[in-house]
Amino acid sequence: MLEIDQVSIEYPARKGPPSLALDQVSLSIPAGEFVVALGASGCGKTTLLNTIAGFIPPTRGEIRLAGEAVDGPGSDRGVVFQKHALMPWMNVVENVEFGLKLRKMPLHERRRIALECLNKVGLLSSAHKQVYELSGGMQQRVGVARAIASSPSVMLLDEPLGALDAFTREAIQELLLDLWNESQGVFFFITHDVEEALFLATRLIVMAPSPGRVVHDLSMPFARRYLATRDARGTKADPEFIAARERVLALVHQTSSTGMH
Ligand SMILES: Nc1ncnc2c1ncn2[C@@H]1O[C@H](COP(=O)(O)OP(=O)(O)OP(=O)(O)O)[C@@H](O)[C@H]1O
Ligand SMILES: [Mg+2]
Repeated sequence: MLEIDQVSIEYPARKGPPSLALDQVSLSIPAGEFVVALGASGCGKTTLLNTIAGFIPPTRGEIRLAGEAVDGPGSDRGVVFQKHALMPWMNVVENVEFGLKLRKMPLHERRRIALECLNKVGLLSSAHKQVYELSGGMQQRVGVARAIASSPSVMLLDEPLGALDAFTREAIQELLLDLWNESQGVFFFITHDVEEALFLATRLIVMAPSPGRVVHDLSMPFARRYLATRDARGTKADPEFIAARERVLALVHQTSSTGMH
């Protein structure tokens, strides 16, 4: 469904040769996968996400979505940033329906969809509040509601929970698994937190820097296990989860130390 085909990204340097932020990255991601990217700072995670989003054109290679080459942003991809990018002069529901408004959807229809999305993230009762009246976790959930409003086939999330406290973070992790499960689409999620990565991923990709590349591509059972049991604590306390966490931590350390310059 989502094909990343030999994608390289060069950023121009102020002096000297351009830096290779991604070096021939290839991934084939069928619908229904929750892909989590982990790796040292600077290994190209955000660059890869921004390229899938259509914000950055590949220097070489191609990204295809349902067979079509990506050549710019589109409503088939929803993006959630580390810090919400909500518009402070609009209230919550206006933020959520903004993309639909740009696409000229009539008010009653876009309002119905926006309220449905707010309901999914547990914020129906805050629909008419101002953005500044919400907590950080609530603002991130509005960001998620806005991203799902256009029913994208791919959701792109760049460390969306990084700034939140542990309790809020876990609650939103569970919410994201439900939204993903319901959507049957692809989620591509970046985090620095190994436990979060293991809990969410059906597929975990570990990246390394200099040049940015994918060094491990691992299949993970825990997200589906949580959805089957609804027991987040039990899933994370399972000896198998703990063993996987240690294994993946070792891989991340190994790849980041050898990649440093
Ligand atoms: N706009 C830009 N111009 C020039 N170089 C850039 C630009 N954006 C990123 N880079 C460089 O590309 C490389 C990859 O950056 P990127 O932001 O994709 O990494 P990351 O894995 O998301 O890191 P982090 O975990 O710190 O968010 C880094 O070396 C970075 O300095
Ligand atoms: Mg980043």
